[in-house]
This record gives sequence, structure tokens and C-alpha cells, in this order.
Amino acid sequence: MKPKIYITRKIPNEALDLLEKECEVKMWGEEETPVPRDVLKKGVKDVDGLYCLLTDNIDKEIMDEAENLKVISNMAVGYNNIDVETASEQGILVTNTPGVLTETTADLTFALLMATARRLVEASDYLRTGEWKSWSPMQLTGQDIHGATIGIIGFGRIGQAVARRAKGFNMNILYYNRTRKTEIEKELDVTYKEMENVLKESDFLIILTPYSEETHHLIGEDELNMMKNSSILINTSRGGIVNEDDLFTALQEGEIWGAGLDVFEKEPVDLNHRLLQLTNVVTLPHIGSASIATRTKMAGLAAKDLVKVLQGEEPYHLVNQ
Ligand code: DGY
Repeated sequence: MKPKIYITRKIPNEALDLLEKECEVKMWGEEETPVPRDVLKKGVKDVDGLYCLLTDNIDKEIMDEAENLKVISNMAVGYNNIDVETASEQGILVTNTPGVLTETTADLTFALLMATARRLVEASDYLRTGEWKSWSPMQLTGQDIHGATIGIIGFGRIGQAVARRAKGFNMNILYYNRTRKTEIEKELDVTYKEMENVLKESDFLIILTPYSEETHHLIGEDELNMMKNSSILINTSRGGIVNEDDLFTALQEGEIWGAGLDVFEKEPVDLNHRLLQLTNVVTLPHIGSASIATRTKMAGLAAKDLVKVLQGEEPYHLVNQ
């Protein structure tokens, strides 16, 4: 008999085909809307595996409903949407999709850095709304990227991939990470500094640390006040790492110069959110890993790991310690 699984969203066909070959599949078939909580609670009742997304809150309540659950496979590298501690207590394995999205997310991080520094969205709107009357000396001037100091908070795979891109722009690269990565400093030409120094010295501060209780509001009023008035904050990790009220104040009062945000504490962000009213903020709808190839790979990897666990094999990427 095939194991039973629940998939919380319509996923790419390649991944779905694999899952349908090996498992009895129930799926929330919508593409744009997350599965409602009550539907999910019913859906997981008799399943062996759960294939979920970062938009699904997989907590104790859900796991308690799913008596046969053996594996939760998250189609994302971040897994803050899953209560991993409870999963471990209940003997449920949790898997994620690191590696395949590293370069694509680093590309987007750098694109957002460039768009924010050189005011690309504002400039495009300026042209399209007919405000462009003439070239003028200081019109839409931004911040230089080449030769500037970039500070990367969270120096995992994506942080290191951003550093490699920064090298091409002749940037001075600082990083802060919970554990220092001495072995790669020389190769990447990066300098480790305490967080306070990274904040004070960087022209671009890049947030790439995972989100956890420890990193909740890691960047707030005190940290933003330490940054240069000309500096730019880029967040492509999770919104909750930055205190959005404090960020708004810092941007409005000129404590920092701009921000590029791919993520928000509550997603989708409310259209009346104060940060969306500022012209020195570039906003994106959590598209860090959104290339066709990468999303297809993420979906496939999550499917493979789900099947591996259900067939009694070691998954490629186990999250539980
Ligand atoms: C992740 O994988 O955690 C990203 O936020 C989406 O790709």
C-alpha cells in the first residue's frame, strides 16, 4: 500500500508526478491561496507525510491531528514556520531545501541592493508619470555601490554567495555570524567584525540570518541608530528579524538612507503599511528564490526528501538535530 501524503499547495508538475508515483496524494489545489487551517487540520488526519510551504504554520495543533505523520517536508530553506521541537518530540522528521536556491537568492539580494542604491523603481515611475522634464545635475542621484563597504549579517551559503558578487564590485566586505568562519575568510576576502562594528562601518547592511526567537527584532532602534545616515538596509531573509516600526522611524528621520525589503513580518504586507509609503524603500513580494529553474528544483528536492523518509531512507536535508 502506498503511503498517504498531504500537499498544501499546487506544486510544479515534475514534483507532483514523483509524489503521485510513490504516494497516495491529497492536495490543496490552489496556486495563490494558502490552505485554510481547518482544511489542513482535516487533511493531515491520516497521512504519513506532509509537503508544505513557508506560508503554512505547522505547529503542535496540526501535528496532534496527524497521528501517523512521519515527515514534514518544507519547500523552503527557512523552516521557522514549523515547530521543529514538537516535531522531534513526536518523532517526526523535518526536511528543507538548502543549496538549490543559494545563487538565485544571492542574485535577487544584489539586484535589490542595486535597485535601492540607484533608485531604480522611483526613477522608472518618474519617467512613466511624466515628471521627467529635463536631465538635471542632481536628479534621482543615489549611492555608489562600487568600492562601498557591505556588511553581511548571517554568513551561511547565501551570505557567502552575496560576498562573491560584492567582490566583483570591488566592495570592502564585512560579515557577522554567530560562529566565525575563519576557514573561508581568505578565499572570499572578507573580514569578520562584531555586529556593532558591522552596523557602524557598512554602507550596505544585508540581513541573511535565519529567523528564530534569537534573531527576532535583531535589528531595532539601537542598531539602526548605529548605522551611517547614508547607509542602506537590505532584507531578503525574514521580515521578523527587523523591527518594522523602528525601521520606518529610522528611514523617515534620515537615520539611514534607504531600505530594500523582500520580506515582511506579516505577509502579504498590508497595503496601508507605513513602509510602503516611503519613496526610499524598495519593496518586493518575497521573491528571493523565484526563478523558474530554482523553484522547480526546490519543489523536486522537497518531493524527493519526503519520499526518501517514507521509504525508510536518510533524507538529503534533515532539519531536526
Ligand atoms: C526560503 O526558502 O526560505 C525562501 O524564503 C523562499 O525561497
